[in-house]
Amino acid sequence: MTKIDYQELSVSPDGKTESEQPVWRKDFPIDWPSDSYVARREFTKFLILISMAFSTGQFWILFKSFLQQEEASFYRIASVDEVVMGKPLLFSYPTPQDKCLLIKLDSDRYVAFSQACTHLSCPVIPEPEKGRFLCPCHQGVFDIATGSPIAGPPRRPLTQIKLEIRDGAIYATSLIGI
Ligand code: FES
Repeated sequence: MTKIDYQELSVSPDGKTESEQPVWRKDFPIDWPSDSYVARREFTKFLILISMAFSTGQFWILFKSFLQQEEASFYRIASVDEVVMGKPLLFSYPTPQDKCLLIKLDSDRYVAFSQACTHLSCPVIPEPEKGRFLCPCHQGVFDIATGSPIAGPPRRPLTQIKLEIRDGAIYATSLIGI
């Protein structure tokens, strides 16, 4: 009985060398070594295509979330006429759970801060007549114009909201320092 050598390549019917063979014969080999080579090549192609599709998908998701973030970060708080000196305005930014306070300091100066105390997150209460925010939980006090801690346990300033006035309206555009 003759032993079959699986590594041996057949001679093609036209007698030409491997490199001279038409593409279809290279893509559909009948010998094991050539078949493994084609399988490896196809598998590599498959891996590259899958990786490219995966990377493209990731970039698309990143791009979409960047656009959504841009849209969400530009929030109209109120028109300038609605904000009165000595009457802080409560609004939410950047999410509906994040309460913030808009303060009119003088005729054309506005500031806004997160209402969450930087000690243990109790909501601070504005006291414009005293020029401060008071945190009732542990008597923390912050400056109403800068948000800096003045008294009590808080050591960090309140998170400030960057504002922009456009066409007679006040917009929150981002969180300063975050
Ligand atoms: S939570 Fe505001 S001072 Fe403690």
